[in-house]
Amino acid sequence: MLPPLLDPAISSLVFDSPGALLKLVEQYGSSLNIVWPHILRRNVEALRAVLNRYTARFEIFYGAKVNRSPGLVRAAVEAAVGVDVSSIYEMRDALRAGIEPAMLCATGPAKTRVFHAALIANAALIAVDSVEEFNDLEMIVREIEPDRPTRVLLRYRPAASGTSRFGMGADDLLTCLQRLTRLKEWFSFEGFHFHLGGYGHESRVQAVRELTRFFAAARAMGLDPTILDIGGGLPVQYVDGEVYEAFFGAQCSGDYRNGKVPESFYPYGGPIGACQWLDQFLASPCVDGVSIAGYLNEMRLTLAIEPGRSLADQTAVSVFRITRVKSLAADNVVIFVEGSSFSACETWFASEFLVDPILVSAHAGSEHGEPPVRAYIAGHSCLDEDVITNRLIPFQRRPKAGDLLVYANTAGYQMDMLENEFHRHPVPRRISVTYDAAGGMEVSPDDRMEYRNDFE
Ligand SMILES: Cc1ncc(COP(=O)(O)O)c(C=O)c1O
Repeated sequence: MLPPLLDPAISSLVFDSPGALLKLVEQYGSSLNIVWPHILRRNVEALRAVLNRYTARFEIFYGAKVNRSPGLVRAAVEAAVGVDVSSIYEMRDALRAGIEPAMLCATGPAKTRVFHAALIANAALIAVDSVEEFNDLEMIVREIEPDRPTRVLLRYRPAASGTSRFGMGADDLLTCLQRLTRLKEWFSFEGFHFHLGGYGHESRVQAVRELTRFFAAARAMGLDPTILDIGGGLPVQYVDGEVYEAFFGAQCSGDYRNGKVPESFYPYGGPIGACQWLDQFLASPCVDGVSIAGYLNEMRLTLAIEPGRSLADQTAVSVFRITRVKSLAADNVVIFVEGSSFSACETWFASEFLVDPILVSAHAGSEHGEPPVRAYIAGHSCLDEDVITNRLIPFQRRPKAGDLLVYANTAGYQMDMLENEFHRHPVPRRISVTYDAAGGMEVSPDDRMEYRNDFE
Protein backbone atom coordinates (compact mmCIF):
# COMPACT_ATOMS: atom_id res chain seq x y z
CA MET A 1 0.00 0.00 0.00
CA LEU A 2 1.23 3.51 -0.83
CA PRO A 3 -1.12 5.97 0.89
CA PRO A 4 -0.47 9.59 -0.11
CA LEU A 5 0.87 12.21 2.28
CA LEU A 6 -2.01 14.68 2.51
CA ASP A 7 -2.26 18.33 3.45
CA PRO A 8 -4.77 18.73 6.32
CA ALA A 9 -7.13 20.86 4.16
CA ILE A 10 -7.31 18.10 1.58
CA SER A 11 -7.58 15.30 4.07
CA SER A 12 -10.43 17.18 5.75
CA LEU A 13 -12.40 17.39 2.48
CA VAL A 14 -11.72 13.79 1.45
CA PHE A 15 -12.21 12.04 4.78
CA ASP A 16 -14.47 14.38 6.78
CA SER A 17 -16.71 15.72 4.02
CA PRO A 18 -16.97 13.02 1.35
CA GLY A 19 -20.52 14.22 0.64
CA ALA A 20 -19.17 17.65 -0.37
CA LEU A 21 -16.67 16.00 -2.68
CA LEU A 22 -19.38 13.88 -4.31
CA LYS A 23 -21.45 17.03 -4.81
CA LEU A 24 -18.55 18.85 -6.45
CA VAL A 25 -18.14 16.01 -8.94
CA GLU A 26 -21.88 16.05 -9.60
CA GLN A 27 -21.73 19.79 -10.23
CA TYR A 28 -18.50 20.06 -12.24
CA GLY A 29 -18.17 16.57 -13.73
CA SER A 30 -15.52 13.90 -13.74
CA SER A 31 -12.64 13.95 -13.85
CA LEU A 32 -12.33 17.04 -11.70
CA ASN A 33 -9.16 18.86 -10.70
CA ILE A 34 -9.32 20.71 -7.39
CA VAL A 35 -6.67 23.29 -6.58
CA TRP A 36 -5.75 24.87 -3.22
CA PRO A 37 -3.72 28.00 -4.09
CA HIS A 38 -2.93 28.90 -0.45
CA ILE A 39 -0.73 25.80 -0.25
CA LEU A 40 1.59 27.20 -2.91
CA ARG A 41 2.05 30.34 -0.82
CA ARG A 42 2.97 28.15 2.13
CA ASN A 43 5.50 26.22 0.02
CA VAL A 44 7.09 29.53 -0.96
CA GLU A 45 7.40 30.54 2.69
CA ALA A 46 9.06 27.23 3.57
CA LEU A 47 11.72 27.65 0.86
CA ARG A 48 12.23 31.30 1.84
CA ALA A 49 12.88 30.27 5.43
CA VAL A 50 15.71 27.98 4.30
CA LEU A 51 17.19 30.56 1.94
CA ASN A 52 17.06 33.26 4.60
CA ARG A 53 19.26 31.15 6.85
CA TYR A 54 22.07 31.25 4.28
CA THR A 55 21.81 34.42 2.25
CA ALA A 56 19.93 37.67 1.90
CA ARG A 57 20.21 37.57 -1.89
CA PHE A 58 17.83 35.16 -3.55
CA GLU A 59 14.94 35.10 -6.00
CA ILE A 60 12.31 32.38 -6.31
CA PHE A 61 10.52 32.00 -9.64
CA TYR A 62 7.48 29.71 -9.84
CA GLY A 63 7.93 27.35 -12.82
CA ALA A 64 4.48 27.94 -14.29
CA LYS A 65 4.81 25.05 -16.76
CA VAL A 66 4.03 22.60 -14.00
CA ASN A 67 0.28 23.27 -14.02
CA ARG A 68 -2.19 25.28 -16.12
CA SER A 69 -3.96 26.78 -13.14
CA PRO A 70 -4.11 30.58 -13.21
CA GLY A 71 -5.00 30.37 -9.52
CA LEU A 72 -1.58 28.91 -8.76
CA VAL A 73 0.13 31.63 -10.81
CA ARG A 74 -1.86 34.23 -8.88
CA ALA A 75 -0.84 32.62 -5.60
CA ALA A 76 2.81 32.87 -6.67
CA VAL A 77 2.41 36.54 -7.55
CA GLU A 78 0.63 37.21 -4.25
CA ALA A 79 3.49 35.48 -2.45
CA ALA A 80 5.78 38.05 -4.12
CA VAL A 81 7.82 35.55 -6.11
CA GLY A 82 8.66 35.77 -9.78
CA VAL A 83 7.28 33.49 -12.47
CA ASP A 84 9.34 31.44 -14.93
CA VAL A 85 7.35 31.41 -18.16
CA SER A 86 8.03 29.10 -21.08
CA SER A 87 5.54 30.52 -23.57
CA ILE A 88 3.73 33.71 -24.30
CA TYR A 89 0.60 32.07 -22.86
CA GLU A 90 2.22 31.39 -19.50
CA MET A 91 3.47 34.96 -19.62
CA ARG A 92 -0.07 36.22 -20.26
CA ASP A 93 -1.33 34.36 -17.18
CA ALA A 94 1.41 35.88 -15.05
CA LEU A 95 0.69 39.40 -16.34
CA ARG A 96 -3.03 38.90 -15.75
CA ALA A 97 -2.21 37.83 -12.21
CA GLY A 98 -0.63 41.26 -11.77
CA ILE A 99 3.03 40.33 -11.77
CA GLU A 100 5.57 43.16 -11.87
CA PRO A 101 6.91 42.50 -15.42
CA ALA A 102 10.54 42.60 -14.29
CA MET A 103 9.73 39.61 -12.05
CA LEU A 104 9.21 37.45 -15.14
CA CYS A 105 11.94 35.16 -16.32
CA ALA A 106 12.04 32.85 -19.31
CA THR A 107 14.42 29.93 -19.05
CA GLY A 108 12.91 27.57 -21.63
CA PRO A 109 14.85 26.96 -24.84
CA ALA A 110 11.96 27.25 -27.33
CA LYS A 111 11.23 30.95 -27.50
CA THR A 112 9.53 32.32 -30.59
CA ARG A 113 10.13 35.75 -32.09
CA VAL A 114 6.83 37.01 -30.67
CA PHE A 115 7.71 35.65 -27.23
CA HIS A 116 11.18 37.22 -27.37
CA ALA A 117 9.67 40.56 -28.33
CA ALA A 118 7.16 40.41 -25.47
CA LEU A 119 9.90 39.47 -22.99
CA ILE A 120 12.06 42.36 -24.18
CA ALA A 121 9.17 44.82 -23.97
CA ASN A 122 8.47 43.73 -20.39
CA ALA A 123 12.12 43.90 -19.28
CA ALA A 124 11.91 40.22 -18.30
CA LEU A 125 15.00 38.17 -17.56
CA ILE A 126 15.82 35.94 -20.55
CA ALA A 127 17.99 32.82 -20.29
CA VAL A 128 19.77 32.46 -23.62
CA ASP A 129 20.09 28.78 -24.51
CA SER A 130 22.44 28.90 -27.49
CA VAL A 131 24.52 31.10 -29.78
CA GLU A 132 21.69 30.71 -32.27
CA GLU A 133 19.17 32.11 -29.79
CA PHE A 134 21.58 34.94 -29.02
CA ASN A 135 21.71 35.78 -32.75
CA ASP A 136 17.90 35.91 -32.95
CA LEU A 137 17.62 37.94 -29.79
CA GLU A 138 20.22 40.46 -30.93
CA MET A 139 18.38 40.94 -34.20
CA ILE A 140 15.07 41.59 -32.43
CA VAL A 141 16.66 43.91 -29.87
CA ARG A 142 18.23 45.98 -32.66
CA GLU A 143 14.85 46.15 -34.43
CA ILE A 144 12.84 47.08 -31.35
CA GLU A 145 15.43 49.42 -29.86
CA PRO A 146 14.04 49.08 -26.33
CA ASP A 147 14.69 52.02 -24.04
CA ARG A 148 16.70 49.84 -21.63
CA PRO A 149 19.20 47.03 -22.17
CA THR A 150 17.64 43.55 -22.37
CA ARG A 151 18.40 41.45 -19.29
CA VAL A 152 20.02 38.12 -20.10
CA LEU A 153 21.43 35.04 -18.43
CA LEU A 154 23.50 32.49 -20.35
CA ARG A 155 22.42 28.88 -19.97
CA TYR A 156 25.32 26.57 -19.14
CA ARG A 157 25.53 22.90 -20.14
CA PRO A 158 27.44 21.16 -17.35
CA ALA A 159 30.20 18.70 -18.25
CA ALA A 160 28.13 15.71 -17.12
CA SER A 161 25.36 16.66 -19.58
CA GLY A 162 27.63 16.80 -22.64
CA THR A 163 25.05 15.38 -25.07
CA SER A 164 22.10 17.42 -23.81
CA ARG A 165 20.42 19.75 -26.30
CA PHE A 166 19.99 22.37 -23.58
CA GLY A 167 22.52 25.05 -22.75
CA MET A 168 26.00 25.89 -23.99
CA GLY A 169 29.41 24.33 -23.46
CA ALA A 170 32.52 26.32 -22.56
CA ASP A 171 33.40 27.56 -26.05
CA ASP A 172 29.94 28.91 -26.88
CA LEU A 173 29.61 30.41 -23.42
CA LEU A 174 32.89 32.31 -23.83
CA THR A 175 31.87 33.43 -27.33
CA CYS A 176 28.63 34.87 -25.92
CA LEU A 177 30.49 36.57 -23.08
CA GLN A 178 32.87 38.23 -25.56
CA ARG A 179 29.92 39.45 -27.61
CA LEU A 180 28.19 40.78 -24.51
CA THR A 181 31.23 42.92 -23.70
CA ARG A 182 30.67 44.68 -27.04
CA LEU A 183 26.89 44.95 -26.72
CA LYS A 184 26.45 46.68 -23.38
CA GLU A 185 24.22 49.27 -24.99
CA TRP A 186 21.76 46.50 -25.90
CA PHE A 187 22.20 43.81 -23.25
CA SER A 188 22.58 43.72 -19.52
CA PHE A 189 24.38 40.46 -18.74
CA GLU A 190 23.09 39.33 -15.34
CA GLY A 191 24.60 35.87 -14.83
CA PHE A 192 24.40 32.16 -15.57
CA HIS A 193 21.59 29.64 -15.56
CA PHE A 194 21.34 25.87 -15.74
CA HIS A 195 18.58 23.36 -15.22
CA LEU A 196 19.32 19.67 -14.87
CA GLY A 197 17.26 16.52 -15.08
CA GLY A 198 17.16 14.26 -12.02
CA TYR A 199 16.60 15.31 -8.44
CA GLY A 200 20.00 15.09 -6.70
CA HIS A 201 21.51 18.26 -5.28
CA GLU A 202 25.02 16.88 -5.95
CA SER A 203 24.80 17.40 -9.73
CA ARG A 204 23.79 21.03 -9.12
CA VAL A 205 26.70 21.53 -6.73
CA GLN A 206 29.09 20.18 -9.38
CA ALA A 207 27.57 22.49 -12.01
CA VAL A 208 28.12 25.49 -9.72
CA ARG A 209 31.74 24.45 -9.18
CA GLU A 210 32.18 24.39 -12.94
CA LEU A 211 30.54 27.79 -13.32
CA THR A 212 32.88 29.52 -10.88
CA ARG A 213 35.51 29.91 -13.62
CA PHE A 214 32.96 31.52 -15.93
CA PHE A 215 31.92 34.01 -13.26
CA ALA A 216 35.62 34.86 -12.88
CA ALA A 217 36.06 35.08 -16.67
CA ALA A 218 33.02 37.33 -17.06
CA ARG A 219 34.23 39.71 -14.37
CA ALA A 220 37.72 39.75 -15.89
CA MET A 221 36.08 40.86 -19.15
CA GLY A 222 34.44 43.80 -17.40
CA LEU A 223 30.97 42.24 -17.17
CA ASP A 224 29.04 42.22 -13.92
CA PRO A 225 27.20 38.93 -13.40
CA THR A 226 25.09 38.98 -10.23
CA ILE A 227 22.79 35.94 -10.62
CA LEU A 228 23.46 32.24 -10.27
CA ASP A 229 20.29 30.51 -11.44
CA ILE A 230 20.09 26.76 -10.74
CA GLY A 231 16.66 26.05 -12.26
CA GLY A 232 14.25 23.59 -10.65
CA GLY A 233 14.25 19.91 -9.82
CA LEU A 234 13.77 20.18 -6.07
CA PRO A 235 12.21 16.88 -4.98
CA VAL A 236 8.72 16.28 -3.62
CA GLN A 237 7.72 13.57 -1.14
CA TYR A 238 4.41 12.03 -2.14
CA VAL A 239 4.41 9.09 0.25
CA ASP A 240 6.18 8.22 3.47
CA GLY A 241 9.84 7.37 2.82
CA GLU A 242 9.93 4.15 4.81
CA VAL A 243 6.66 2.88 3.39
CA TYR A 244 7.99 3.65 -0.08
CA GLU A 245 11.29 1.86 0.51
CA ALA A 246 9.46 -1.22 1.78
CA PHE A 247 7.07 -1.19 -1.19
CA PHE A 248 9.87 -0.63 -3.66
CA GLY A 249 11.99 -3.46 -2.33
CA ALA A 250 9.07 -5.90 -2.44
CA GLN A 251 7.29 -5.04 -5.69
CA CYS A 252 7.31 -7.60 -8.50
CA SER A 253 5.86 -8.12 -11.96
CA GLY A 254 2.78 -9.78 -10.47
CA ASP A 255 1.83 -6.42 -8.98
CA TYR A 256 1.16 -5.01 -12.44
CA ARG A 257 -1.72 -5.85 -14.78
CA ASN A 258 0.72 -6.07 -17.69
CA GLY A 259 3.27 -8.15 -15.75
CA LYS A 260 5.90 -5.41 -16.09
CA VAL A 261 7.57 -3.36 -13.38
CA PRO A 262 8.43 -0.04 -15.05
CA GLU A 263 12.15 0.63 -15.38
CA SER A 264 12.08 4.07 -13.83
CA PHE A 265 9.97 6.05 -11.41
CA TYR A 266 9.93 9.54 -10.02
CA PRO A 267 11.31 9.19 -6.44
CA TYR A 268 7.83 9.44 -4.88
CA GLY A 269 9.05 8.51 -1.42
CA GLY A 270 12.54 9.96 -1.58
CA PRO A 271 14.39 10.59 1.68
CA ILE A 272 14.23 14.40 1.54
CA GLY A 273 11.83 17.12 0.42
CA ALA A 274 12.55 20.46 -1.26
CA CYS A 275 13.57 22.33 1.91
CA GLN A 276 16.14 19.75 3.01
CA TRP A 277 17.40 19.56 -0.57
CA LEU A 278 17.98 23.31 -0.63
CA ASP A 279 19.61 23.17 2.78
CA GLN A 280 22.00 20.42 1.65
CA PHE A 281 22.76 22.21 -1.60
CA LEU A 282 23.65 25.48 0.12
CA ALA A 283 25.79 23.75 2.76
CA SER A 284 27.74 21.64 0.23
CA PRO A 285 31.41 22.40 -0.41
CA CYS A 286 31.91 24.61 -3.44
CA VAL A 287 35.51 25.73 -4.13
CA ASP A 288 38.49 26.95 -2.06
CA GLY A 289 37.07 25.48 1.13
CA VAL A 290 33.85 27.49 1.08
CA SER A 291 30.30 26.19 0.84
CA ILE A 292 27.94 27.07 -1.98
CA ALA A 293 26.34 29.65 0.33
CA GLY A 294 29.81 30.97 1.23
CA TYR A 295 30.70 31.33 -2.45
CA LEU A 296 27.42 33.14 -3.22
CA ASN A 297 27.96 35.56 -0.36
CA GLU A 298 31.65 36.18 -1.11
CA MET A 299 30.84 36.88 -4.75
CA ARG A 300 27.74 38.91 -3.84
CA LEU A 301 25.64 36.68 -6.09
CA THR A 302 21.88 36.27 -5.98
CA LEU A 303 20.76 32.64 -6.00
CA ALA A 304 17.78 32.17 -8.33
CA ILE A 305 15.68 29.00 -8.30
CA GLU A 306 12.74 28.01 -10.51
CA PRO A 307 10.87 25.27 -8.70
CA GLY A 308 7.80 23.95 -10.47
CA ARG A 309 6.81 20.65 -8.94
CA SER A 310 7.95 21.49 -5.41
CA LEU A 311 6.00 24.78 -5.27
CA ALA A 312 2.94 22.91 -6.54
CA ASP A 313 3.42 20.18 -3.90
CA GLN A 314 0.05 19.27 -2.35
CA THR A 315 -1.78 22.04 -4.19
CA ALA A 316 -4.20 19.85 -6.15
CA VAL A 317 -5.97 16.54 -6.42
CA SER A 318 -7.63 14.82 -9.38
CA VAL A 319 -10.95 13.14 -8.72
CA PHE A 320 -12.34 10.42 -10.97
CA ARG A 321 -15.85 8.97 -10.73
CA ILE A 322 -16.08 5.21 -11.23
CA THR A 323 -18.35 4.14 -14.08
CA ARG A 324 -17.99 0.39 -13.95
CA VAL A 325 -16.14 -2.35 -12.10
CA LYS A 326 -15.52 -5.44 -14.19
CA SER A 327 -14.18 -8.84 -13.13
CA LEU A 328 -11.32 -10.24 -15.17
CA ALA A 329 -9.33 -13.46 -15.16
CA ALA A 330 -7.24 -14.47 -12.16
CA ASP A 331 -9.49 -12.68 -9.69
CA ASN A 332 -8.34 -9.29 -10.90
CA VAL A 333 -10.72 -6.43 -11.45
CA VAL A 334 -10.58 -3.40 -13.71
CA ILE A 335 -12.10 -0.15 -12.53
CA PHE A 336 -13.26 2.10 -15.37
CA VAL A 337 -13.43 5.78 -14.52
CA GLU A 338 -14.88 8.87 -16.16
CA GLY A 339 -11.60 10.47 -17.06
CA SER A 340 -8.41 9.46 -18.76
CA SER A 341 -4.77 8.66 -18.22
CA PHE A 342 -4.00 11.88 -20.09
CA SER A 343 -5.01 13.56 -16.82
CA ALA A 344 -2.70 11.43 -14.67
CA CYS A 345 -0.06 10.81 -17.20
CA GLU A 346 2.77 8.70 -15.83
CA THR A 347 1.73 5.54 -17.68
CA TRP A 348 2.29 7.43 -20.95
CA PHE A 349 5.94 7.74 -19.93
CA ALA A 350 6.19 3.96 -19.39
CA SER A 351 6.20 4.70 -15.68
CA GLU A 352 3.64 4.73 -12.90
CA PHE A 353 2.29 7.21 -10.34
CA LEU A 354 3.31 5.27 -7.24
CA VAL A 355 0.65 6.76 -4.99
CA ASP A 356 -2.55 4.91 -4.14
CA PRO A 357 -5.83 6.58 -5.10
CA ILE A 358 -8.21 7.07 -2.18
CA LEU A 359 -11.60 5.41 -2.53
CA VAL A 360 -14.52 7.62 -1.51
CA SER A 361 -17.78 5.73 -1.26
CA ALA A 362 -21.00 7.05 -2.70
CA HIS A 363 -22.87 4.26 -0.96
CA ALA A 364 -22.05 4.79 2.69
CA GLY A 365 -23.44 1.98 4.80
CA SER A 366 -24.15 -0.43 1.95
CA GLU A 367 -20.62 -1.70 1.35
CA HIS A 368 -20.71 -4.51 3.91
CA GLY A 369 -20.10 -7.93 2.48
CA GLU A 370 -18.22 -6.63 -0.56
CA PRO A 371 -15.06 -8.75 -0.96
CA PRO A 372 -11.56 -7.27 -1.08
CA VAL A 373 -10.13 -6.97 -4.60
CA ARG A 374 -7.00 -5.99 -6.47
CA ALA A 375 -7.77 -3.65 -9.33
CA TYR A 376 -6.10 -1.61 -11.98
CA ILE A 377 -7.63 1.68 -13.10
CA ALA A 378 -8.59 2.34 -16.73
CA GLY A 379 -9.66 5.51 -18.47
CA HIS A 380 -12.73 6.06 -20.61
CA SER A 381 -11.22 5.69 -24.06
CA CYS A 382 -10.93 2.78 -26.46
CA LEU A 383 -7.13 2.81 -26.22
CA ASP A 384 -5.77 -0.30 -24.55
CA GLU A 385 -2.98 1.87 -23.13
CA ASP A 386 -5.39 4.35 -21.55
CA VAL A 387 -4.62 3.04 -18.09
CA ILE A 388 -4.24 5.42 -15.19
CA THR A 389 -2.73 2.82 -12.88
CA ASN A 390 -1.26 -0.44 -14.17
CA ARG A 391 -0.42 -1.45 -10.64
CA LEU A 392 -2.96 -3.76 -9.06
CA ILE A 393 -4.19 -1.71 -6.14
CA PRO A 394 -5.55 -3.60 -3.15
CA PHE A 395 -9.01 -2.37 -2.06
CA GLN A 396 -10.52 -3.61 1.17
CA ARG A 397 -13.87 -3.94 -0.59
CA ARG A 398 -14.90 -4.00 -4.21
CA PRO A 399 -15.58 -0.42 -5.33
CA LYS A 400 -18.88 0.41 -7.01
CA ALA A 401 -20.04 2.61 -9.86
CA GLY A 402 -20.54 6.15 -8.56
CA ASP A 403 -17.73 5.90 -6.00
CA LEU A 404 -14.82 8.29 -6.41
CA LEU A 405 -11.11 7.70 -6.71
CA VAL A 406 -9.03 10.63 -5.48
CA TYR A 407 -5.48 10.89 -6.77
CA ALA A 408 -3.61 13.18 -4.40
CA ASN A 409 -0.85 15.60 -5.28
CA THR A 410 -1.31 15.60 -9.04
CA ALA A 411 -0.51 19.31 -9.54
CA GLY A 412 3.10 18.63 -10.51
CA TYR A 413 2.78 17.73 -14.21
CA GLN A 414 0.40 14.72 -13.89
CA MET A 415 -2.83 16.65 -13.87
CA ASP A 416 -3.01 18.51 -17.14
CA MET A 417 0.22 18.20 -19.09
CA LEU A 418 -1.22 15.77 -21.66
CA GLU A 419 -4.91 16.43 -21.30
CA ASN A 420 -6.90 16.55 -24.52
CA GLU A 421 -10.39 16.10 -25.94
CA PHE A 422 -9.99 12.55 -27.24
CA HIS A 423 -13.41 11.04 -28.04
CA ARG A 424 -14.57 14.68 -27.79
CA HIS A 425 -14.72 14.40 -24.01
CA PRO A 426 -14.33 17.94 -22.71
CA VAL A 427 -11.11 18.55 -20.80
CA PRO A 428 -11.66 18.22 -17.07
CA ARG A 429 -12.85 21.24 -15.14
CA ARG A 430 -10.49 22.80 -12.65
CA ILE A 431 -11.84 24.49 -9.55
CA SER A 432 -10.10 26.39 -6.84
CA VAL A 433 -10.76 26.15 -3.11
CA THR A 434 -10.34 29.07 -0.73
CA TYR A 435 -11.58 29.61 2.83
CA ASP A 436 -13.57 32.51 4.28
CA ALA A 437 -12.72 34.16 7.59
CA ALA A 438 -14.78 31.58 9.46
CA GLY A 439 -12.96 28.72 7.74
CA GLY A 440 -15.85 27.96 5.39
CA MET A 441 -14.84 26.44 2.07
CA GLU A 442 -15.44 28.54 -1.06
CA VAL A 443 -15.20 27.08 -4.53
CA SER A 444 -14.69 28.96 -7.78
CA PRO A 445 -13.85 27.97 -11.35
CA ASP A 446 -10.14 28.11 -12.09
CA ASP A 447 -10.28 27.51 -15.83
CA ARG A 448 -12.17 30.46 -17.27
CA MET A 449 -9.58 32.06 -19.50
CA GLU A 450 -7.26 29.41 -20.77
CA TYR A 451 -8.88 28.61 -24.11
CA ARG A 452 -8.99 32.21 -25.22
CA ASN A 453 -6.22 32.83 -27.65
CA ASP A 454 -5.61 36.51 -27.93
CA PHE A 455 -2.26 36.31 -29.73
CA GLU A 456 -3.48 35.29 -33.20
C1 LIG B 1 14.53 25.42 -17.27
C2 LIG B 1 13.64 24.79 -16.24
N1 LIG B 1 13.52 25.38 -15.04
C3 LIG B 1 12.69 24.86 -14.09
C4 LIG B 1 11.97 23.69 -14.32
C5 LIG B 1 11.08 23.17 -13.23
O1 LIG B 1 11.51 21.92 -12.75
P1 LIG B 1 10.75 21.23 -11.53
O2 LIG B 1 9.30 21.23 -11.83
O3 LIG B 1 11.32 19.85 -11.49
O4 LIG B 1 11.09 22.01 -10.31
C6 LIG B 1 12.08 23.05 -15.56
C7 LIG B 1 11.33 21.82 -15.82
O5 LIG B 1 11.42 21.18 -16.84
C8 LIG B 1 12.94 23.62 -16.55
O6 LIG B 1 13.06 23.05 -17.76
